[in-house]
Amino acid sequence: MTHLPPVKPFLEVLSGRRQPIPPIWMMRQAGRYLPEYREVRARAGGFLDLCFTPEFAAEVTLQPIRRFNFDAAIIFSDILVIPYALGCDVRFEAGEGPRLDPLDTPDKVGTLATNGDFTKLEPVFEALRRVRRVLDPKIALIGFCGAPWTVATYMVAGQGTPDQAPARMMAYRYPEAFARIIDTVVENSIQYLLGQLKAGADVLQIFDTWAGVLPPREFQRWSVEPTKRIVEGVRKQVPNAKIIGFPRGAGALLPAFVEATGVDAVSIDWASEPSLIRNKVQSHVAVQGNLDPLVLIAGGAALDRAIDDVLANFAAGRLIFNLGHGIQPETPIAHVEQMVKRVRAHKG
Ligand code: CP3
Repeated sequence: MTHLPPVKPFLEVLSGRRQPIPPIWMMRQAGRYLPEYREVRARAGGFLDLCFTPEFAAEVTLQPIRRFNFDAAIIFSDILVIPYALGCDVRFEAGEGPRLDPLDTPDKVGTLATNGDFTKLEPVFEALRRVRRVLDPKIALIGFCGAPWTVATYMVAGQGTPDQAPARMMAYRYPEAFARIIDTVVENSIQYLLGQLKAGADVLQIFDTWAGVLPPREFQRWSVEPTKRIVEGVRKQVPNAKIIGFPRGAGALLPAFVEATGVDAVSIDWASEPSLIRNKVQSHVAVQGNLDPLVLIAGGAALDRAIDDVLANFAAGRLIFNLGHGIQPETPIAHVEQMVKRVRAHKG
């Protein structure tokens, strides 16, 4: 007797088969809004210790699955592990976000390693293997990396910035040095994503959180082209690899991003215009999104209405229900429960 492996609704949507009830997960679903995350985080010590201790990283990856029975788990790590593997000094200071030594001149860029030390990332692969072993086979496991543009904004500025001015300025002033950062992140991200697939990831997501600050020409050069090279590099080794793009804030440039990069799905932010998404994006690939994380904090009737809007806008096509960006730490857990219940009650 043969047993077919159980179907993963999440992967079905990415493979072209709309599901009557859209699969659901949340960006940044493992995090500070959960008391059980805060408990493990305190035991781990530093944020990078949490990322690089497989037992802890696997545990926090599974916490939101146990609570909400989401259709996908995302491996707990961070986009800045690539600069870390490249020898950058990456620090997470309490309440302040990431800090790196700024790579803001061609001379400094000259000191950047070409090949990352992947032994430093082995704990992420081990955490993936651990999660894979215990995860319900109906639930998909997502691996990820930052898109080169977004990773470079932190490498150049040495920290998060409101408008990514240091990286934008460097790309205009020293395009060759800036391209060297981008190319290095592209090549190492391909290796990193392939390692995650080998360790058990079913799907990959490329986070380009700061894509929306670029003028169209720069968007093409620093967001679309590097993402396309990552997609091609991964598929050269794993031809059927499933990949989700997230060029946050791309707006009217989104259809061109989808066409050029060859991603299987795009995550869309809450400001996306529904008819443009339906006609020019969802007609080609699956869409993921796009509830405003603030309405999830507000809750109540405003939350119900916003959920219904997402479903009315996109559930007739291929949809993975998600937020338009990561969940915020002050979000009440009861509101997440309200969201999951309402989405799963959808009659589609
Ligand atoms: O649950 C998941 O989605 C998986 C884990 C995940 C984290 N970061 C954990 C994290 C993912 C997918 C990321 C991606 C990430 N990291 C992005 C792109 C997506 C996005 O949200 O825009 C970016 C820009 C980063 C860089 C980063 N990491 C910043 C700017 C910060 C500080 C801001 C903050 O939210 O605290 C981090 C830290 C970080 N990464 C935390 C978590 C849970 C909080 C750290 C803590 O517990 O103190």
